[in-house]
Amino acid sequence: RAPGILTGVRVLVSAGPTFEDIDPVRFLGNRSSGRMGFAVAEAAARQGAQVTLVAGPVHLPTPAGVRRINVRSACEMHREVMAAAASADIFVAAAAVGDYRPVAVAEHKIKKQGDGGMTLCLTQNPDILAEVAALPRRPFLVGFAAETQDVEAHARLKLEKKRLDMIAANRVGGGLGFEADDNALTLIAADGAEHLPTASKRELARSLIERITARFNASRRD
Ligand code: PMT
Repeated sequence: RAPGILTGVRVLVSAGPTFEDIDPVRFLGNRSSGRMGFAVAEAAARQGAQVTLVAGPVHLPTPAGVRRINVRSACEMHREVMAAAASADIFVAAAAVGDYRPVAVAEHKIKKQGDGGMTLCLTQNPDILAEVAALPRRPFLVGFAAETQDVEAHARLKLEKKRLDMIAANRVGGGLGFEADDNALTLIAADGAEHLPTASKRELARSLIERITARFNASRRD
């Protein structure tokens, strides 16, 4: 195969949801299917990158040539991403990481008690992307933002707050974003935004990898 635009570049991708166990049979999760992140991993590998994919609990085949590490919870994803991030050139965080987890995981199935409600105590998960951003030798950082309203404004805030190089914003709901085959992205960097209209996640991932590569190469020349 001819060398691709990412030959020799180490790309780390996070994908899918995280599941936060409550007891042996229940968990807190979200609707991420992993498709967007797996498509990014595939597109990067096709361009010659050495790809490590840290995948939450999803049922998707591993793209050709990709090293996959399966995780379940945000803490597990945090551990595996931090272990790989120090030697990555680019990190694309497409995972939908749970912001909170139960303070304690019950050893046995929690039984219904009386007729009233129940309260679940939660604690915050580590912010993986923000911690990678704080590394002394940080990779080129691309975040995702899934929003239901004011998509661009919320994404810009995340770009600045998490000190990212780029963020891919997607509106979720109405057949796009989570679970769906198609998506639409607005790519935002400090100097402007570009809209990638509705297309399959695989097509969008190819365009995204082209844009990331151009900016990554420019950042290395600085
Ligand atoms: O998996 P699919 O069904 O294909 O759906 C794709 C998607 C909608 C999940 C994906 O395109 C997407 O938008 N992923 C990010 C989801 C999100 O809402 O992220 P966030 O706004 O909670 O977080 C912003 C960024 O910080 C993300 O890059 C996220 O990976 C990262 N993050 C968030 C929390 C946390 N504790 N650690 C993180 O690294």
